[in-house]
Amino acid sequence: MRKELFIAHAKAKPFLKWAGGKTQLLEQMTAYFPPELSSKRITRYVEPFVGSGAMFFYVAQNYPAAEFFLLDVNKELVLAYQTIQQSVEAVICRLEHMRAEYVALPQEKKADQFYAVRDEFNRSRSAIDFDRYQTEWIERTAQIVFLNRTCFNGLFRVNARGDFNVPFGGYKNPQIANAENLRAVSRILQGAKIQCADFEGCERNVHDATFVYFDPPYRPISPTASFTSYARFEFGDKEQKRLAHFYRTLDERGAKLMLSNSDPQNENPDDHFFEALYKGFNIKRVRASRMINCDATKRGKINELLIMNYQTGYSQQGMNDS
Ligand SMILES: C[S@@+](CC[C@H](N)C(=O)[O-])C[C@H]1O[C@@H](n2cnc3c(N)ncnc32)[C@H](O)[C@@H]1O
Repeated sequence: MRKELFIAHAKAKPFLKWAGGKTQLLEQMTAYFPPELSSKRITRYVEPFVGSGAMFFYVAQNYPAAEFFLLDVNKELVLAYQTIQQSVEAVICRLEHMRAEYVALPQEKKADQFYAVRDEFNRSRSAIDFDRYQTEWIERTAQIVFLNRTCFNGLFRVNARGDFNVPFGGYKNPQIANAENLRAVSRILQGAKIQCADFEGCERNVHDATFVYFDPPYRPISPTASFTSYARFEFGDKEQKRLAHFYRTLDERGAKLMLSNSDPQNENPDDHFFEALYKGFNIKRVRASRMINCDATKRGKINELLIMNYQTGYSQQGMNDS
């Protein structure tokens, strides 16, 4: 009976394109999950850098018994999650309206609609109460999804003033309103607590039966790379060290921990930054395609680090164990 219900619903997947999205790495990464997740000895899942939530959606739909705590410091992203959790039909209605308007326009006029939505999104920010649900969140969430689907490369980037500043993407048929997925996302979110907070804010949610997956902004692969600027929050080496310290705190609490990051050795084989920070933990490397890079010649296969505080006993050809 339970299985039939499960199959009848569409699978929820990320509703935003997001820098560092983990969809393409999921299969490799799940092989490194703690065995206690399958045996249900883990009852709680915490993701302090949730982004578009590819890992969360996977875990929530394959390990349905757990409680879920999601955090991200990006308040626009968290607003979108909370609105889809509470008012998905209203968001779909607005998005379908925006989509109908977009498809009806000749190609050369589509940019006008994009820039009008972008201007309105930036102009209305000061009137939004990000801490308490209000009906204005519905329009804002529809704008976030619309901009994410129609902007260049599906990025979410704001400037120093907090204005969304990604240009128009010019795509012919962007999928603006995926109602079925939004409903599936809303359903899955009913069992989750979503909070706008710095990663250390999850500490009170973590106990010894918790699995925490950390996907922090990447450490820049070269001094010029700037893809760690997801919002106005820089995540430099100082922040990576603060995170490593926090990782040790949660390790002492007995939680199971998995952290991913780009491998600095892709660029410089002598860079042992993460080996030093996470000395004593289980460090593995998996192959990833780096999709979001401003320099097309730098898109390709690179290693991604996985750092666990438990043994997995998993080994696969092409992966080098540290
Ligand atoms: C690599 S992305 C996460 C990608 C995500 N796992 C996915 O599958 O799309 C990193 C996220 O960390 C968030 N972030 C940056 N600094 C943070 C902080 N100090 N505390 C919590 N979240 C932070 C960013 O807003 C961004 O959404």
